[in-house]
Amino acid sequence: MTKHVSPDEHRKTFRAEILAGLTAPRKTCNSKWLYDDVGSHLFEAITELDAYYPTRTELAILKRNAAKYRRLPGARGTMVELGSGSSRKTDLLLNAFQDLSVYMPIDISANHLKASAERVRRAYPSLAVIPVAADFTQPFGKLPLLPELPVLVFFPGSTIGNFEKDAAIGLLRQIRDAMPEATMIVGVDRPKAESVLLEAYDDPAGITAAFNMNLLQRINRELEADFDLASFAHQAIWNAGESRIEMHLKSLKAQTVTVAGEHIAFADSETIHTENSHKYSEKALSEIAGESGWRVLDVDTDPDGLFSVNTLQAN
Ligand SMILES: C[S@@+](CC[C@H](N)C(=O)[O-])C[C@H]1O[C@@H](n2cnc3c(N)ncnc32)[C@H](O)[C@@H]1O
Repeated sequence: MTKHVSPDEHRKTFRAEILAGLTAPRKTCNSKWLYDDVGSHLFEAITELDAYYPTRTELAILKRNAAKYRRLPGARGTMVELGSGSSRKTDLLLNAFQDLSVYMPIDISANHLKASAERVRRAYPSLAVIPVAADFTQPFGKLPLLPELPVLVFFPGSTIGNFEKDAAIGLLRQIRDAMPEATMIVGVDRPKAESVLLEAYDDPAGITAAFNMNLLQRINRELEADFDLASFAHQAIWNAGESRIEMHLKSLKAQTVTVAGEHIAFADSETIHTENSHKYSEKALSEIAGESGWRVLDVDTDPDGLFSVNTLQAN
């Protein structure tokens, strides 16, 4: 498998970023660290929940429009998928794109990526599958793309919503600069009733809570930390001003935790902000696309307008 980052480097970056986030005035953690092997499997379980409308809604939109996406030039060349996870949504496109030559899934969760890529390889034996275990927020300089093949970027799951506006614009611009001739299919969640959003991110079965709490277990496992799980709780909040769901891990008492030899003090009710999921209206998405050098060619949605799949072209 092509690897941009060695496991050793990855561990060092994890340690440095976790400590920086936990010692910041407002404790925070980049949501990419939620995805280790356990986190990736828990995320898959979330996508199966009744309460989690985004996956089934996006799947239905992709299914309905796959024949149209097949006419994009990249559907006969290389499909680069950002944050590919299980590659389950990709199957819908791969079934429709009989002339695709190369599939390049990129994900930070290396083992999960490897297993998903092997599954795709077995299911589509004539396709060249080139997984890249990497953080896609880092420069794309070394992507092994074949210059003669047109590129389609597939960026589903509303993963773009995990980034604050400036970072989302920066990431979209970086994708455009790395693949200036590409078209991109990007799945984006939309604003909707707060009750629907809160249930999707704090489901009755507690799977999203387990996904969030796994971050503390991961820090305990990998950074010799002593988070007491019973003293923290998952919290999902709708921040209307920022049009985003926020996930936090809330300390249930005043306590001190040791992480990689550092003592981290928590006040009662203090939180670690672990994920943002920004919800974009059609207008808001078109604005960030425009600011990052893309133009929206097409918007597909479901009958209730819950979710959108946008086709973008570099300007
Ligand atoms: C919200 S999930 C979406 C998964 C899948 N694409 C879907 O639509 O169901 C986000 C995915 O992006 C990956 N990911 C998150 N941040 C990443 C980063 N900075 N670099 C590479 N992969 C990342 C995660 O491991 C996870 O598989």
